[in-house]
Amino acid sequence: MLLRVIGIETSCDETGVAVYDSECGLMAHRLHSQMRLHAAYGGVVPELASRDHIRRLPSLLKEALVESRMSMSDVHGVAYTAGPGLIGALLAGASFGRSLAMSCDIPAIALHHMEAHLLAVMLEDNKPQFPFVALLVSGGHTMLVFVERVGNYRILGETLDDAVGEAFDKTAKLLGLAYPGGPLLAELAKSGDPHRFDFPRPMTDRSGLDFSFSGLKTYTMNTLYSNTGNGSLHADIACAFQAAVVDTLIIKCRRSLKQTGLNQLVVAGGVGANTMLRERLDEMAHKDGAAVFYPRKEFCTDNGAMIAYAGYLRCQAGQVESLKISARARWPMDEITALD
Ligand code: KG4
Ligand code: ZN
Repeated sequence: MLLRVIGIETSCDETGVAVYDSECGLMAHRLHSQMRLHAAYGGVVPELASRDHIRRLPSLLKEALVESRMSMSDVHGVAYTAGPGLIGALLAGASFGRSLAMSCDIPAIALHHMEAHLLAVMLEDNKPQFPFVALLVSGGHTMLVFVERVGNYRILGETLDDAVGEAFDKTAKLLGLAYPGGPLLAELAKSGDPHRFDFPRPMTDRSGLDFSFSGLKTYTMNTLYSNTGNGSLHADIACAFQAAVVDTLIIKCRRSLKQTGLNQLVVAGGVGANTMLRERLDEMAHKDGAAVFYPRKEFCTDNGAMIAYAGYLRCQAGQVESLKISARARWPMDEITALD
């Protein structure tokens, strides 16, 4: 059955709107980044984020429909991110999406942001078969998930403190880089000396699949303050920090594949755009006879396309929201509704 679904993403500082068509695939996706709005404050200001989402959503929707050569009468459902994220930002997208669906008398679908991240890979030609292991690495989450099928997720391990993206951003700030610092730190690391510092690989010497990154941040700070007066110091630290994070992730990914007996790994979330992480994972997979799958880089970071696609899957399965507009700042992945 032909199914066309609009996806709306507003969980943090990116406003995304996209249209997915069950027969033609992704028809359009529009994104507005609030990066410049928040840069002056060194991080996301929730109230500014909510207001900007409200300001941008109508024009982004219009543009996505024009690009898809559709009007709302051609659309069968509206999906929106209902959590986890900043509550005001989520409510902006949820109110807009729920009202849009009601005014067109079509179903609304409330989605979990991380479920959409891990399904984004299915928009690519090179995609995995279920089941697979997913490494979710974003600004707010770091976890390894056993993905049995759509809607059925078991958390194998997660961070006990900072998320990887958060650790990248905090370390970047320490090194004087702008927000969000993850990609800037990765760029700076390219000119660093990989042999100057050897940072710890946290929690790799004990069994299990949990992570911890806050100690690495402190280690970075101590290294920075005890080594002054060298021009390349910041680049050398960026290089050592990135190497330690990537190594730690590789060790845990490898362990998770071994533990589950699976040989397919999906990487999703903003840090999945990191080039060094991708190169090292590819090397690991080559050695171990495994396969690694990535969404294209623009769909690693927040976007509307992943919401439209996950929304299409849930709409097809018959998920429909009540008229109540609801959003959850916190929403553990194992509380996601399974599909029949
Ligand atoms: O998935 P995402 O867009 O938003 C959340 O759901 O959190 O992830 C954003 C995070 C930020 O912390 C950002 O610094 C990080 O992903 N990030 C990167 C890179 N690109 C984005 N970290 C390291 N290297 C990158 N190339
Ligand atoms: Zn995200």
